[in-house]
Amino acid sequence: MNWRIKPLEDILASAERKALRRSLGPFQLMMLGIGAVIGTGIFVLTAVGAERAGPGLMLSFLIAGVVCAFAALAYAELASMLPVAGSAYTYSYGVMGELIAWIVGWNLILEYAVAASAVAVGWSGYMNGLLTSWGVHVPAAFTAGYFDLKNGQLGAGAGVINLLAVGVVVVVCALLVRGTRESAAVNTALVFVKLVALGIFVAIALPNIDWDNFSPFMPFGFLSHEVYDPTLDAHVAKGVMAAAALIFFAYVGFDAVSTAAEETRNPNRNVPIGLVGSLVLCTLIYLFVAAGAVGTMPTDELKNSKEPLAEVLRNLGFQRIGDLIGVAAVLALPTVIMMMIFGQVRVFFAMSRDSLLPQRLSEVHPRFGTPWIMTILTGLLVMAVAGFFSVDEIAELSNTGTLLAFIAVSAGVLVLRMTQPDRPRPFRCPAVWVIAPLAVAGCLFLLLSVPPKSLVRFSIWNVIGLAVYFLYSRSRSPLAERPA
Ligand code: ALA
Repeated sequence: MNWRIKPLEDILASAERKALRRSLGPFQLMMLGIGAVIGTGIFVLTAVGAERAGPGLMLSFLIAGVVCAFAALAYAELASMLPVAGSAYTYSYGVMGELIAWIVGWNLILEYAVAASAVAVGWSGYMNGLLTSWGVHVPAAFTAGYFDLKNGQLGAGAGVINLLAVGVVVVVCALLVRGTRESAAVNTALVFVKLVALGIFVAIALPNIDWDNFSPFMPFGFLSHEVYDPTLDAHVAKGVMAAAALIFFAYVGFDAVSTAAEETRNPNRNVPIGLVGSLVLCTLIYLFVAAGAVGTMPTDELKNSKEPLAEVLRNLGFQRIGDLIGVAAVLALPTVIMMMIFGQVRVFFAMSRDSLLPQRLSEVHPRFGTPWIMTILTGLLVMAVAGFFSVDEIAELSNTGTLLAFIAVSAGVLVLRMTQPDRPRPFRCPAVWVIAPLAVAGCLFLLLSVPPKSLVRFSIWNVIGLAVYFLYSRSRSPLAERPA
């Protein structure tokens, strides 16, 4: 079989290498990481995570954080060797060939576009909470999607379309088409807003913890499994690993740091500090927030909230501060949506540059200079998912694609160490033969802990992807064998 590996030199040449100034230090890298990472995962999914794992949710955050740190180090090595757009897709093309690259690229749609949908739905929960506290009542039919089971039985009509989530995607896409990219100053300000909001949450919640809420610590055990829930007439996932497979979403986005390797001073030292530093900081914050949430509010009350952190504080009697946490989420989450859609467009761009997707799609707008067709198509996809599904199901599906991409990257680092040991590596993953296999094993364990329903959706998505590849992309690739 011809694996169609694209020579790394070609990748670097076809991506028009820009010589970026090496200006980023460890602090800026950590800000970048935290800006992309903290979002719906901690602000919203904490509720469903607590439902799955009880207080063991803290362990779930720890496990997902450690796996991400391993994957992050592997990511950084490839990113420093191939500092070009397209991240995991491009690396796989150069290391494992076109078919694997296609599969990874197809799954990055889950990592970026579908994740943007999840963040939009998460945002809508907080926005709706704020509107309600201001006396504005959006009809239930427009605050949740048709397939959001928790909002009423399927088809019974509690939810029809989540208009708030669709609306925020329209605004973000309009900004991206016009070419507005938030500046470093805005990013730093919003990181500050998020950190202050979570800091206030922890400062209020921790002293109010009722330690009885922590026992039993793992009421549903460790491994992921399903139990029947008569109130929903459906099977629901339980266990520490089922929660870990969901809240893994809270760490997605750190690849922003790996891809900035080229712009980093002394990357060998600063990239690992930036990556591991932001992941350690986020893990610590998540552990404290999770402790504050499960320690102050019984899981049965927490589990149905669409704005759990605000609700915990209101429940403790801090109505106004709860509302302010909502304001912080409403202000800060749209930048996470923006980063995700921006990342998706870059991946589509790389795939169409390689002719695996129609090249017309990467056409640049004559006035704004942005890939407007790609951005609008991505926006429509993000809206279609955000409008109709529940946040946990979307996030879970997004995680499956992300985990597959992480597995490919971690394995790819090892393949490249064997096939091209002498190629310069501006950043080398420390103890790579330990770290990369642990990253692969950890991601695989998380992937297998995803509930069956989402794994089925993930498989269907990949079958569609393979069909597109073999029916369309394969014959259009410049690497296709031409008859002599
Ligand atoms: N990690 C990002 C979030 O939790 C995607 O919103």
